[in-house]
Amino acid sequence: MMHEEKISVLMVCLGNICRSPMAQGVFQRQVDQAGLAGRIRVDSAGTHAYHVGEPPDTRARRAALQRGVDLNGQRARRVEAEDLLRFDYVLAMDRENLAHLQALADPAMRGHLGLFMAFTPEWDEKEVPDPYYGGDRGFERVLDMVEDAARGLLDHIRHHRTV
Ligand code: 4NP
Repeated sequence: MMHEEKISVLMVCLGNICRSPMAQGVFQRQVDQAGLAGRIRVDSAGTHAYHVGEPPDTRARRAALQRGVDLNGQRARRVEAEDLLRFDYVLAMDRENLAHLQALADPAMRGHLGLFMAFTPEWDEKEVPDPYYGGDRGFERVLDMVEDAARGLLDHIRHHRTV
């Protein structure tokens, strides 16, 4: 039967406490608003283990909540080689994350591995900058970027997949 399996999307950054949780939350909200929660599954992970088990950074949670996106239920986990086999889209926040994922990838991978920002024409910057060591402005900028990339990704999935 068609429509049995959800289309799955994994957002990946370094620590899985700032950028990829915001990308996950923003995309999840757009998916929910489009009525596609039953068709698209969203998750996130980090390439490093520094913050495994932790909720997203307080600054990320606060900035996202101001835009109606609740990150409180998320917990950081590290990306595993198996994720690259299981997810239809594995989307890196920057090129360093992407290189890490490419090194983990198996030839059997059938999904798409690339940069999240590739899904929006609205930003020349194709990497989401790491906001961890900066101030609140950096988190707002990450949200501005991932909102546009999420919209582009949703349009892409609607045009290229049966949802
Ligand atoms: P993220 O940000 O990759 O967007 O989650 C970072 C979080 C933690 C660290 C670096 C980046 N860290 O070095 O602990």
